[in-house]
Amino acid sequence: MQKLSRHIYFDHSATTPVMPEVAKVAYDAMTLYFGNASEPHIFGAEAKHILENSRAAIAKSINSYPDEILFTSGGTESNNIAIFGIAEAYYKKGNHIITSEIEHPAVHMPLRVLEQEGYQITYLPVDSSGIVDPQDVKDAITNKTILVTIMHGNNIMGAIQPVEEIGRITKENNVIFHCDAVQSYMNAVIDVDNLNVDLMSISGHKVYAPKGVGALFIRRGTKIMPQIFGGGQERGRRSGTENIPGILGLAKSVEILSSGFRERIEKIAGLRDYLRDSIIQKISDTTYNGHPDKRLPGNCNFTFKYLDGSDIVSKLDEYGIAISAGSACKSAASEASKALLAMGICSEYAKGSIRISLGFENSKEEADYLIEILPEIVSGLRNHYPLCKEKDNNKYFIF
Ligand SMILES: Cc1ncc(COP(=O)(O)O)c(C=O)c1O
Repeated sequence: MQKLSRHIYFDHSATTPVMPEVAKVAYDAMTLYFGNASEPHIFGAEAKHILENSRAAIAKSINSYPDEILFTSGGTESNNIAIFGIAEAYYKKGNHIITSEIEHPAVHMPLRVLEQEGYQITYLPVDSSGIVDPQDVKDAITNKTILVTIMHGNNIMGAIQPVEEIGRITKENNVIFHCDAVQSYMNAVIDVDNLNVDLMSISGHKVYAPKGVGALFIRRGTKIMPQIFGGGQERGRRSGTENIPGILGLAKSVEILSSGFRERIEKIAGLRDYLRDSIIQKISDTTYNGHPDKRLPGNCNFTFKYLDGSDIVSKLDEYGIAISAGSACKSAASEASKALLAMGICSEYAKGSIRISLGFENSKEEADYLIEILPEIVSGLRNHYPLCKEKDNNKYFIF
């Protein structure tokens, strides 16, 4: 197989390239509009103007008000502020939090910290397609429940959760609902009123904006304790001089991605389905993990039985193709993804999974190249891989 002289990027769930128009405005913000937004002179006023215009743009994109948008350094910080901020503000009401087994570590890790401090955390299961049952949320709520935190689109196998229904339940029960929408923002229609969420996290680098910027939607009237103290920026809720280049970049990305939104999503989903059908048809002992259609438009997750996903990632890398063997932080560790295990996939098969995540700039030609080389790579690995040392009537055994 001939190797390409260029690289193909199929790892958009890990991060996205910054669009040139976005880089341009971020550059301008660094060099021209570099003032500190808290200062009263013209330089500060320019920065403040950019900050508030950007806030209004992000607010509009999720059908919220500008004063409900808190700028942060990204999805991890947004999730941490939401979880610790609510836990601290509502500790007198109770110490029970409900989440799912498939959340990103940026939700699970703060919850583990709270667990060590005595909070009770309920981890709800998912079905075999990776979806939480809203009835389980309802059943788990007690008079001590202060927060439900369940994601929108899953970062591993793309399953989209029934957020709207969960939000209805939390509203009826007077419980705060936080949703990690880092993967779904700009990849699905996100309207905070329709979704009934009280808090929602987004991240710039998943939407073609720079790394190090994100936002937390906090519904008016939601009590939350600040987690970062200092100069009182962001109306005292998150101190620190604002990242104007990142924030302006995020607003520019949102402006670009919002125009032609449906066409873009349909194009990505079409390419995803083409990849899915071609790969399943060409490679035996392959399963497509996650929900058939309630999933992020760019997400494909396959299990190639008897293989370790990280070996496939390395082989494809030799051919200039970037994919992932799970979430970005776990790729190197070759650990079975928790989300796949939660769906009932056994650990050997979960380890054999790969994630291909597409973006709008991917082409059919790029997909065809992957479809051409992947069967050879999988069969080559299956012939040599230690998990498949023994074969019996062409059936592999896993030790
Ligand atoms: C679902 C989800 N939540 C949170 C994060 C963390 O976001 P960030 O990298 O902006 O901190 C990620 C990143 O992969 C994610 O996929």
